[in-house]
Amino acid sequence: MKIASVVGARPQFVKLAAIHKAAKAAGVEHIIVHTGQHYDPMLSDVFFEELGIGAPDVHLGVGSGTHGVQTGAMLAALDAVFEEHQPDWVLVYGDTNSTVAATLSAVKMHIPVAHLEAGLRSFNRRMPEEHNRVMTDHAADLLLAPTQVAVEHLANEGLAERTILVGDVMTDVLFDVRDELAGRPSALLKELDLEPGGYYVATIHRAENTDDPARLATVALALAGLDKPVVLLAHPRVVAKAAAHGVELTQGSLIAHAPLAYADLMAATLSSAGVITDSGGLQKEAFLLGVPCTTVRTETEWVETIELGWNVLANTAEEISAGVSRPRPKVTDAAPYGDGHAAERVIDALLNAAR
Ligand code: UD1
Repeated sequence: MKIASVVGARPQFVKLAAIHKAAKAAGVEHIIVHTGQHYDPMLSDVFFEELGIGAPDVHLGVGSGTHGVQTGAMLAALDAVFEEHQPDWVLVYGDTNSTVAATLSAVKMHIPVAHLEAGLRSFNRRMPEEHNRVMTDHAADLLLAPTQVAVEHLANEGLAERTILVGDVMTDVLFDVRDELAGRPSALLKELDLEPGGYYVATIHRAENTDDPARLATVALALAGLDKPVVLLAHPRVVAKAAAHGVELTQGSLIAHAPLAYADLMAATLSSAGVITDSGGLQKEAFLLGVPCTTVRTETEWVETIELGWNVLANTAEEISAGVSRPRPKVTDAAPYGDGHAAERVIDALLNAAR
């Protein structure tokens, strides 16, 4: 059996690492197609190297653009890739423009499509990710859901028959590096002269928080006013928007810093007093590392983190400040994101469905 994974953005490379490992272990042929949506080395190459994925088999080099231009360029390029490689499955990941482009190309070529991380919903129709995931779920042949809540969303949309609960593959990767992290202090502590527990880790990159100048200024000011240093691991999008809007990303408690590689980010998170983010992956990673999270969004797809008390939604400066200073959540042994073996279930599901 031959699987073609199509990836393009940072969180997809982490998920890909788990799938690539499981595919190799099962002796399945795995072709990796990188759309080029993310191209900065710290958003792309570093993950392929660090997580032992190796180089992609195909690189489309599409780069940045408006949604239509970017998605259209990928769509146009993928037909020839699938034609050449003739995969039994196209595996798409998450909710980016790369996800929906690969799904459309494969569906129209009658190649079975499996959607990893199916069924997540924010119910916020203004988010580009929500369009991408809804369209992908309804077009794909096999829906690989990370959580029970995602399974229920898919059932509510009439997609139960195509759905399998596999667990969360990012959890697989985190569990693999977690034990190594315990004895390894974050390099960030030395670099920025920080104490363990004496700072927050922040990431802000979503369009809802970056594109409107007033909104970005509000978020930056809220982080600048917190009671401990806030290390903002700044995605190029927020750097570009801040420059365009004249918003300072280093002011007060706020310190802008380049993004970190995967293990470094996990180490920095583990020794922080808390995480402030609008990233989906980091909300979950904070939960799995036992670090309280404050999410700068009006909703989250990872509702389990909220229900278990490890995450709160916060949008105003007051809410963000209250979020980071709230009492430490109760330790839980709930495992809504699976047991760290989701990728093996994905490969099994693809093998079984192909029989
Ligand atoms: C994309 C995904 C988002 C995901 C995020 C993870 C979509 C619609 N959005 O958002 O769901 O959470 O990836 O990081 O697919 N840029 C660079 N270098 C790069 C990549 C981007 O400088 O390597 C800058 C460019 O200014 C670009 C902007 O970031 O225009 C936005 O990049 P884009 O890929 O469109 O979306 P992300 O914000 O990264």
